[in-house]
Formats: sequence, C-alpha cells, structure tokens
Amino acid sequence: MIGIVGATGTIGRYLVSDLEELKVPVTCLQRRSSQASIKTGRTTRVVQVDLDQPETLKRGLSGCRSLFLLTGADPHLSTQQLPVLQAARDVGVEHVVKLSAGDPVVSETSASQIGREHWRVEQDLMAGDLSWTMLRPGFFMQNYLAMAAAIREFRSVALPVPAHMTVGMIDAADIAAVAAVVLVEGAFKGEVVSLAGESYLMCDFPLLLSHVLGQEVTYDQVTLDAAAEGMKAAGMPGWMVSQQLEVLQLMAVGAFSTGKDRHFEVTGRKRRSLSDFVRANLDHFRPV
Ligand SMILES: NC(=O)c1ccc[n+]([C@@H]2O[C@H](COP(=O)([O-])OP(=O)(O)OC[C@H]3O[C@@H](n4cnc5c(N)ncnc54)[C@H](OP(=O)(O)O)[C@@H]3O)[C@@H](O)[C@H]2O)c1
Repeated sequence: MIGIVGATGTIGRYLVSDLEELKVPVTCLQRRSSQASIKTGRTTRVVQVDLDQPETLKRGLSGCRSLFLLTGADPHLSTQQLPVLQAARDVGVEHVVKLSAGDPVVSETSASQIGREHWRVEQDLMAGDLSWTMLRPGFFMQNYLAMAAAIREFRSVALPVPAHMTVGMIDAADIAAVAAVVLVEGAFKGEVVSLAGESYLMCDFPLLLSHVLGQEVTYDQVTLDAAAEGMKAAGMPGWMVSQQLEVLQLMAVGAFSTGKDRHFEVTGRKRRSLSDFVRANLDHFRPV
C-alpha cells in the first residue's frame, strides 16, 4: 500500500491515476474526504486526515509501505510535513518520497522561504531512520495554467524575468511518472533526484502558444511591483505573492537556467516538451 499526501494537487492527481493504472493499492490522505477532483478507482481509497492530529495520520498511514509527501507552497510547509514523517515512523512506513523544490532553492540560507522550508524537511528525513528519496523539480509548466485568465484577456505573458533568460521547465505529469516508478519499485533510496526539466527561453511559451493558436501572444518583462499587482488582482494571497516573487527574482538572474534532469534515467521515457504542454492545454489559453 502506498500513502499519498497531496493527492488532489497538480502532481498528485497524475500520480494517483498512474498508480491506479498499475493497479497498485493507494491510500490518499486528504483533509476533505469528499474531494471530487480525484477519481478513485478500485485500488484507491481516501482517508480524511488533519495534519495537526497525529492520530488521524497514523490511522491513515497504517498498512502503508511507502509514502509520497507533498503539500502546497505554504510558508509553514515544514510544520505541516514534519508530523507526517513522525506518524510514518510510528506506524512502520519504510520509504518516503518527498516532493521538494528545485536544486537552486533548497538550502538553509536560500533566498526563498519555501526553499528553506523544504530544506528543513529534507534534513529531518536525511537524519532519521526512514528510507527516503527527494524529488527536486524545476519550474512546472502547469504554472502557466494559473496565468491563463490574464493570458486570454491581454494576449500577453507578463513576468519579471528577461525574455531571453533560460529556465528549466517540466510537466507535472513527468514528475508524477518519476514518483510512481520510485514508489512502486522502492528504487533510488537515499538519492536526491533532480528534475530540472528542459531549458527554454522565457519567450518560448508565448511563441509556441502564438504558433498553435494562430494569434499573437507577446512576452512582456514587467517590474516586480507590476508582477505583484497582477498576482494580487488575480486573488493570490499576500504570502503566496511574496513566495512567487522570491523565486521569480532567482529565475531573473539565471538560477534555474541549467540543471540536472533524471526523468529519462528513472522512467526510460521521453519527457513531455513545452510544445506538448501547449497543445494538451490549448483550451485554457484560447481567447474567448
Ligand atoms: N510550481 C512550481 O514550479 C514548483 C517547482 C518546484 C517545487 N514545487 C513544490 O511543489 C509543491 C506543490 O505541488 P503541486 O503544485 O502539485 O501542489 P498543489 O496543486 O498546490 O496541491 C497541494 C496539495 O497538498 C494538499 N495539502 C495542502 N495543505 C494540506 C493540509 N494541511 N492537509 C492535507 N493536504 C494538504 C492539497 O490538498 P487540498 O486539495 O485539500 O488543498 C493538495 O492536494 C510545493 O511544495 C512547491 O514548493 C513547485
């Protein structure tokens, strides 16, 4: 049995579906049991947990051999995840696959708070007696979905990063595919698996989009203040705006330009390209 925290999220939904296809029994530990966003099949069960209530976590993890651990980009991420690791130890889970942040941001002194939070959880795992695998992905292509409303309205991708800056990008489905192999095979224990993705110029996404849509979408480098205003206008809470700006500032100076990617080594399959992502998600960006 594989336990999953984060099953209803971007990566988690792909992972549940991959494991279901493999007919691997899965327990999704969710804060709401009724979330319709994941389709549970015959091999998947949902258990309601509260990350602040260790007993609920232990009940949910009971019988699990391994655990996939992911929570959102929350400033209190380590406070949420450390009790899950303790519960995993208490009930005898053997292997934890932790979805972390990219290599350039995970460190004690990172300029990104989320990077420091992931580092704390990684340290706890590395120092303890659970087997672990860290997955460290680059920029998710799915981040563009969060910008889709503004892209449809203004026909522009507006970010505080130079148009010709290279950034490693990866499709969340490819991250899930790596997680599925690592969980099912119990492989890559004690390893940090970097998944920086493929390098693209920041202006590549609107160029590809323009080509496939048959309508021009521009890339506009904006100031940090303008980017913050845009995020707030889109309803993003203040703490999340700050997190995003920290990462975007690192991106703007080339921190994500190059990096290792072990997707092919783990899965033996070709990664999805940015062009594949655009074609698969075109309806989100089509002007109305
Ligand atoms: N975006 C990027 O480019 C990027 C790059 C590298 C690393 N990352 C890391 O990737 C992670 C986000 O991945 P994602 O986009 O797949 O996640 P996501 O779509 O934001 O989903 C977060 C998942 O965590 C669950 N969760 C959050 N708080 C919880 C709580 N208190 N109790 C139970 N479940 C909780 C959510 O459940 P609900 O459905 O109940 O909300 C959801 O299933 C973050 O840790 C981030 O630092 C992101």
